[in-house]
Amino acid sequence: MQPTLRELADKNGLLIGCAVATDPLGAMMRDGPTPYSTVLAEQFNIITAENATKFGHLSTGPGAYDWSLADALFDFAQRHRMQMRFHTGLWHNQLPTWLDESKHRSNEIAAIARDHLAAVGRRYGDRMYCWDVVNEPISDKPDQPGADSGPLRDTIWKRALGDDYLATVHHWAHEAAPHAKLVLNDYGTDIAGAKTDALYAVVNDLLARSVPLHAVGFQMHLLHGQRYDPSAVTANFQRFADLGVEIHITEMDVAIAPMSGDRQSRLKQQAQAYRDVLAAAMKVKGFTVFQTWGFTDRHSWVPKFTKCDDAALPLDENLLPKPAYFALREALQQAGQSHMPFPVPLPSDPGGRG
Ligand code: XIL
Repeated sequence: MQPTLRELADKNGLLIGCAVATDPLGAMMRDGPTPYSTVLAEQFNIITAENATKFGHLSTGPGAYDWSLADALFDFAQRHRMQMRFHTGLWHNQLPTWLDESKHRSNEIAAIARDHLAAVGRRYGDRMYCWDVVNEPISDKPDQPGADSGPLRDTIWKRALGDDYLATVHHWAHEAAPHAKLVLNDYGTDIAGAKTDALYAVVNDLLARSVPLHAVGFQMHLLHGQRYDPSAVTANFQRFADLGVEIHITEMDVAIAPMSGDRQSRLKQQAQAYRDVLAAAMKVKGFTVFQTWGFTDRHSWVPKFTKCDDAALPLDENLLPKPAYFALREALQQAGQSHMPFPVPLPSDPGGRG
């Protein structure tokens, strides 16, 4: 029998995982094990809610929460000895409907941010491996004039809390969840470029001031036909790892719609992209987490986002492995025992707290 991704990752001291979509999570909660949850538990040792733990999904009103889906995911992870990435604390999307910038003063928005981080930390702080505290804080056009000039995106949180808000909220998150690795997660920073430089400057500055920040998340959505030179990915990750942070790939998917050739050839190109990225990352000491944004083409955000029919994940609509799955497995096998980053502890007692 061929080993699962999880078995290979365990040997390498790596966490391998994916985002869990809301509908199948609801089904698992209602009906118990499903084919989807069986594959999850077999193949992965870390999971993340695709949407269920975003502020807008958790919140039912000011200071009020419905934790039921999130609890179900944390319980599932614990039963199956998986780690959890909490995604996310503060983001500029998928916010609660009651949070209206025109109706709240800055100090009220600051209190909302602090209270939310405290609530998440109280409930899950001891059970999360890592936490994307602020999602996508880096400006898309850091070198151009306008509201988004400078390294940081112009968001409700930055406007309320000020230019140094990342430091502020990381301190709050650390207070709320002292054992969680705090992550700065963004897209479009997978290889060198202006946005990557902005991210680097921000990370460097936060670390220099001893702000709690333990990992950088690279989303790795390859949705526009981009093909990275693997050495460019290694070099970029190494630059960040040299600052002393863990490197996480957090949301990889590879769209086939922009590729040329028949379906079989596109699936091969896709497999190569997955293999290249994972192998490139595994060259970097400090690379500890590899996650895709979903695992089956049945539940993928890509067609909705790109408005194109697609198949961007390693398993097909019927939960069967595609060439991309085998490519990931090969990349893990080829790394063999050589990739031992910081050994990542898995929860050892399925009955206890992870
Ligand atoms: C996406 C989800 O996949 C969609 O279902 C939802 O409609 C929008 O958000 N970067 C992120 C993720 O950090 O939270 C986003 O998830 C995808 C892009």
